[in-house]
Amino acid sequence: MKQQGAIVWLTGLSSVGKTTIANGVAQELQKQNYQTELLDGDIVRTHLSQELGFSKQDRDINVRRIGFVANLLSRNGIIAIVAAISPYRAVRDELKKTTNNFIEIYVHAPLAVCESRDVKGLYALARDGKIKNFTGISDPYEAPLNPDIICQTDKFTVEQCVNQVLDYLEYLGIIFSENNLFASI
Ligand code: ADX
Repeated sequence: MKQQGAIVWLTGLSSVGKTTIANGVAQELQKQNYQTELLDGDIVRTHLSQELGFSKQDRDINVRRIGFVANLLSRNGIIAIVAAISPYRAVRDELKKTTNNFIEIYVHAPLAVCESRDVKGLYALARDGKIKNFTGISDPYEAPLNPDIICQTDKFTVEQCVNQVLDYLEYLGIIFSENNLFASI
């Protein structure tokens, strides 16, 4: 049976855990022999969006590019996992309407929690005014109004969040659990 593609789109603040959850989901899917690709904001920006900055216009272009690539993968039966801040609701909603099996996952923790993690030290720089237009500090983040699921990374472990995503993919019939293999035949 041909694998069904999907776009697992993780949106949320910097340091909230998008990349960590994306890696966990990708690893688990690979272990179960599903074809998957990861599109991470930071990596896409070094290869596909080098010339773009963080204005609303540039972020919208970046997010549309990621959506375009994710859709090519998804419509060819691959599960594309995206981890990008993607702060603007309108572009996410546009992708939801125009792409194949777009699943919106809101990765959430209070700003104070993300800032205290400050994985890349960027919140400190933003507070110092050394980085302009930093999401959550000096630039907006428009939370999804109706996400497919919400991963609360201040309340649940990485493993629990990863399982939450996998359970949802199973609920949608995109994947089939290992102990329920007959469902895929
Ligand atoms: S998006 O807004 O266009 O979706 P994307 O996810 O690709 O953003 O890139 C965000 C990453 O860029 C952050 O994880 C961080 O490492 C880096 N970054 C640099 N400047 C900023 C900024 N002003 N706002 C947010 N992230 C920034």
